[in-house]
Amino acid sequence: MCGIVGYVGSKPALPVLLDGLARLEYRGYDSAGVAWLKDGEVQRMRCQGKLVGLRDMVQGGKISDCPIGIGHTRWATHGAPTEENAHPHTDCKGKLVVVHNGIIENYFTLRNQLREEGHTFVSETDTEVLAHLIEKYLENDIVEAVRRCLAEVEGAFAMGVLWKGAPDKLVAARKESPLVLGAGKGENFMASDIPALLPYTREIIFLEDGDLAVLTKDSIEISRIDTGESVEREAKTISWDATAAEKAGYRHFMLKEIYEQPQSVLNTFRGRIIPETGHVDLPEIKLSNEELAKISRIVLLACGTSWHAGLVAKYWIEEWAGIPVEVELASEFRYRRLLVNETVLVVPISQSGETADTLAGLRIARKHGSPVIAICNVVGSTITRESDGTIYTHAGPEIGVASTKAFTSQLTALYILALFLAQTRNTMDPAARAEKIRALSEVPRIIEKRLEEMHQACTELSDEFYQYRDFLYLGRHLHFPIALEGALKLKEISYIHAEGYAAGEMKHGPIALIDRNMPVVALVPRDHVYEKMVSNVEEVRSRRGIIIAVAEDGDNDISRVAQHVIRVPATKDPAIKPFIFTIPLQLIAYEIAFARGCDVDQPRNLAKSVTVE
Ligand code: F6R
Repeated sequence: MCGIVGYVGSKPALPVLLDGLARLEYRGYDSAGVAWLKDGEVQRMRCQGKLVGLRDMVQGGKISDCPIGIGHTRWATHGAPTEENAHPHTDCKGKLVVVHNGIIENYFTLRNQLREEGHTFVSETDTEVLAHLIEKYLENDIVEAVRRCLAEVEGAFAMGVLWKGAPDKLVAARKESPLVLGAGKGENFMASDIPALLPYTREIIFLEDGDLAVLTKDSIEISRIDTGESVEREAKTISWDATAAEKAGYRHFMLKEIYEQPQSVLNTFRGRIIPETGHVDLPEIKLSNEELAKISRIVLLACGTSWHAGLVAKYWIEEWAGIPVEVELASEFRYRRLLVNETVLVVPISQSGETADTLAGLRIARKHGSPVIAICNVVGSTITRESDGTIYTHAGPEIGVASTKAFTSQLTALYILALFLAQTRNTMDPAARAEKIRALSEVPRIIEKRLEEMHQACTELSDEFYQYRDFLYLGRHLHFPIALEGALKLKEISYIHAEGYAAGEMKHGPIALIDRNMPVVALVPRDHVYEKMVSNVEEVRSRRGIIIAVAEDGDNDISRVAQHVIRVPATKDPAIKPFIFTIPLQLIAYEIAFARGCDVDQPRNLAKSVTVE
């Protein structure tokens, strides 16, 4: 989720690049850099931290009037947020520079090959592989060299390339990461997001996956990366203002982030699961098979939404790997007598990597000798630095305070971890494991296909329910934590009281609450506890309760008991249903909060990163 800007025209490039990067600030920063040409040579400046540092270095753009350049803001995926890892990256001789957003899955193999061929690497990034691979193929045609490089690359990329041998040309290419071009008069642009370009042009060309573009000040030529065949991509006139553009036209970051989930789930499992062979690859877990075999218990440690992800994972890990799991609220864990030791694997789960309680819990666990493997979204954050290893969630920066895409990415990482443990400890039939992997690989497509339709249904529902003051969310098994998460989403952004409950607990107290004033959101997936869940719904109905059921396509029985049904796509494998059932709950909370006029992205009293106790 990095930001990219490129410019070729007649005016000095640096101010345009710095301004464009500033407009991408919402993507989050850990470092930034720019490159341009001076006296026929590539010049580059990079800086760790916020853009202001880079701006000071290049003196607000006064140091060069070169009319071509590329710039980048980094959200680290491979390698810590340092100056060495900041983009642009160069080849061995510093003849070309590359900026990149995405993940090169086979970078490890490519880097080893290139090293053997004599290339020297100076960063820990996957992007540097691109610079050296282009260098390998570069004779006198940069476009051909980029094409040959990309033929060997697996993964996702949006990239920009500048070569001193073609001082009037920028090369851009994309696959599965966003990249747009801006068409100007006597100048052209590239950027990862539209807001970077809006002050300069509103004529935007959306590159498609597999497109490669060559930009000069007077022309934009687009072709397919693999065949070289020319293609036409019409420019569209964008009417959004700058704030709308940051959110890609969505009303709020939260909504944008809900819609990004097919991509963020994909990014999280990309390169880690091999559906064809049923194999899971998690080199981030720096524990040998012998060490893993010794693990007697797992403690998942987290707060809030991240804790809910842990609660779901308990079912997967216990079922597939046969290891007992405790899911601990970090704020409770840290003040107890802890019975953990070197045989207990502790897994802190945190979007920000800075949550004070989770960090404190992990420190105590380490003192007891426990190995610690974090699940985290922010590279280089404190929790990742203090853990023995980190499985990154690759959700990209999450700006809405209410966690959405980070949650489903955490689920993805935990699902993979559970299968990895089953694989190394040999607790699962390989064919069954392969089936789970295949099911996970389907999740992005399943969600994507139905997101709009689910959104529409949740919007209609919110019209009817936004004025209620109390909600109850019910679920069983994997969907009990999802009920908790649905209730948390609603309360934190709409300020409506909502409780999540295990449906089987109804008779032990909460059923007394049922009346016409408290809608009950019932999660009714077709799984082994379906009949039980339907009985719970009947109990609510017989007490004149209002039921909003979230149920799968084709489940006609539920319509007979629930007054309202939100449909989600049916899936064969129960293990992946929590991913799907989460989406309408996020959308219900979002639409109700919006209807109530709440500040959805920055709800009162809440902070994105809770760095104090
Ligand atoms: C709710 C939410 C919070 C966080 C919690 C932990 O939408 O975002 O409950 O999940 O504060 O934060 P991280 O995951 O950053 O440790």
